[in-house]
Amino acid sequence: MDPDQFSKRLGSIFASVPEQVRRLGLVIVVLVGATLLLRFVLLPPSVVSTELHWAQATEREMAKLPKLAGSAECQNCHEDVVVMKAKSYHKGLACEACHGPAIKHTEDPSALKPPAPRDRTFCPVCHAYDPSRPTGFPQINPTAHNPLKACISCHNPHDPVPPVTPRECSACHAQIDRTKSISSHALIECTTCHNAPEKHKVEPRSALPSKPAAREFCGKCHGEGVASKDAPKEAPKIDISTHGGRNMCWECHYPHLPEGRT
Ligand code: HEC
Ligand code: HEC
Ligand code: HEC
Ligand code: HEC
Ligand code: HEC
Ligand code: HEC
Ligand code: HEC
Ligand code: HEC
Repeated sequence: MDPDQFSKRLGSIFASVPEQVRRLGLVIVVLVGATLLLRFVLLPPSVVSTELHWAQATEREMAKLPKLAGSAECQNCHEDVVVMKAKSYHKGLACEACHGPAIKHTEDPSALKPPAPRDRTFCPVCHAYDPSRPTGFPQINPTAHNPLKACISCHNPHDPVPPVTPRECSACHAQIDRTKSISSHALIECTTCHNAPEKHKVEPRSALPSKPAAREFCGKCHGEGVASKDAPKEAPKIDISTHGGRNMCWECHYPHLPEGRT
C-alpha cells in the first residue's frame, strides 16, 4: 500500500469515528503526553528519583544528634537513684521515660536540668484503669484514688511501693472487680472462691492464689440436694450430675459474670 492510499484509509477510518469519541481521544492523548513530558523532561531527578529520596532522608536523619543518653549514663552522678530503682517495681523503666531526653544534661549538668514529672496527671498515663492492660498490672482510678495530693507525696517514683499493703483485690484486679460488681455474683467475696495468701498482695507473682478446680466447688451453692446449708437461698439450683455434661462450669459460665454464657 503506498503512503497516499494509507493516509486516505486512515482519514476515512478517522471520519467514521463519532465526533465525541474523537474529542475524548484528543483529550486523552494530550493528558498522557503532558504526564510523560512532566515525568521525564520537566521535573528534575531530585524530585522523581526514589533512590535520591532515600539517600537524602538517610543523610538528614544521620545528621541529627541522638538525644537520649541511656540510663547507664546517669549512674556516674546519680548512683543512689539508679541503685534504688534497680530493685523497685519500676526497674523496667528508663530514667528518660520520665525525665525526657537528657543527653545535654549528662554532658553539662548545669546546661539543662531534666524536668521531673511531679504532676498528678503524669503517672496515670501508665496506671489509669484501662481494660486493655494485662491482668494484675497495678491500676487505679485517678479521680477516686487519693485525689488532691500529688502521687509522689505517697509513692517514691524511684521505688513506688504502696505505703500500705493494698487491702482490696481491686487495687490490681480492677477489671475483674468491676465485672463482678454488676453480676449476680456481686455479693460473693473474691476470697470465697480464691485462697489468696497475704504475700500475694506484696509480691503478686511469687505467691499465686488458688482457683476452683472441680465442678463440686460451684455445686456447694448450686447443686440440687448437695448445696451446703450456708449457701445463699437465692442461688439457683441445677442437677450437678447432668447439667453441662462433664465440662468445668467455667467453660460455659464466666465465674465473675456467670449470666454471660460462652
Ligand atoms: C555528669 C554528672 C551527671 C550526669 C551524667 C547526670 N546528671 Fe543529673 N544532675 C547532675 C547534677 C550536678 C544535678 C544537680 C543540678 C543542680 O541542682 O543544679 C543533677 C540534677 C538532676 C535532676 C534534678 C533536676 C531538678 O529539677 O532538681 C534530674 C531529674 C536529673 N539530674 C536526671 C538525670 C538523668 C535522667 C540522667 C541520665 C540520663 C542524669 N541526670 C545524668 C549531674 C549529672
Ligand atoms: C516513674 C518516673 C521516674 C523514673 C523512671 C525516674 N524518675 Fe527520677 N524523678 C521522678 C519524679 C516524679 C521526681 C521528683 C521527685 C520529687 O520531687 O519528690 C524525680 C526526681 C529525680 C531527681 C531529683 C531528686 C531526687 O529524688 O534525687 C533525680 C536526680 C532523678 N529523679 C534521677 C533519676 C534517674 C537517674 C533515674 C533512672 C535511674 C530516674 N530518675 C528515674 C520520676 C522518675
Ligand atoms: C511508663 C509507664 C509507667 C509510668 C509513667 C509510671 N509507672 Fe508505676 N509502674 C509501671 C510498671 C511497669 C510497674 C510494675 C508492674 C508490675 O510489677 O507488674 C509499676 C508499678 C507501680 C506501682 C506498684 C507497686 C506494687 O506494689 O505493685 C506503683 C505504686 C507505681 N508504679 C506508682 C507510680 C507513680 C507514683 C508514678 C508516677 C511518678 C508511676 N508509677 C509512673 C509503669 C509505670
Ligand atoms: C495519700 C496517699 C496517696 C496518694 C496521693 C496516691 N496514692 Fe497510690 N496508693 C496509696 C495507698 C495507701 C495504696 C495501697 C492501698 C490501696 O489503695 O488499696 C496505693 C496504691 C496504689 C497503686 C496500686 C498498688 C499495687 O500494689 O498495685 C497504684 C498503681 C497507685 N497507688 C498509684 C498512684 C498514682 C498514679 C497516684 C497519683 C495519681 C497515687 N497513687 C496517689 C496511697 C496514695
Ligand atoms: C499487688 C497487686 C495485687 C493484689 C492486691 C492482688 N493481686 Fe491477684 N494477681 C496479681 C498479679 C500481678 C497476678 C498475676 C497475673 C498474671 O500473671 O497474669 C495475679 C493473679 C491472680 C490470680 C490468678 C492466679 C492464676 O493461677 O492464674 C488470682 C485468682 C488472683 N490474683 C486473685 C486475687 C485475689 C482474690 C486478691 C485479693 C485477695 C488479689 N488477687 C490481690 C496482683 C495482685
Ligand atoms: C464464684 C467464684 C468466684 C469469685 C467470687 C471470684 N472468682 Fe476469680 N475465678 C473463679 C474461677 C472458677 C476462675 C478460673 C476460671 C478459669 O480457669 O477459666 C477464676 C479466675 C480468676 C483469675 C485468673 C483468670 C482471669 O479470669 O483473669 C483472677 C485474676 C481472678 N479470678 C480474680 C478474682 C478476683 C480479684 C475476684 C474478686 C473481685 C474474683 N476472682 C472472684 C471464681 C471466682
Ligand atoms: C457462695 C455461693 C456461690 C458459689 C460458690 C457460686 N455461686 Fe453462682 N450464684 C450464687 C448466688 C447467690 C446466685 C444468684 C444471685 C441472685 O440472683 O441474686 C448465683 C448465680 C449464678 C448463676 C445464674 C446467673 C443468672 O442469673 O442466670 C450462675 C450461672 C452461677 N451462679 C454459676 C456459678 C458457677 C459456675 C460457680 C462456680 C465457679 C458458682 N456459681 C459459684 C452463689 C454462688
Ligand atoms: C456446656 C455448658 C455448661 C456447663 C459446663 C455448665 N453450664 Fe450452667 N448453664 C448452661 C446453660 C446454657 C444455661 C442456661 C439454660 C439452662 O437453664 O439450662 C445454664 C444455666 C445455669 C444456671 C442457672 C439456672 C437457673 O435456673 O437460672 C446455673 C446456676 C448454672 N448453670 C450453674 C452451673 C454450674 C454450677 C455448673 C458446673 C457444675 C454449670 N452450670 C456448668 C451451660 C452450662
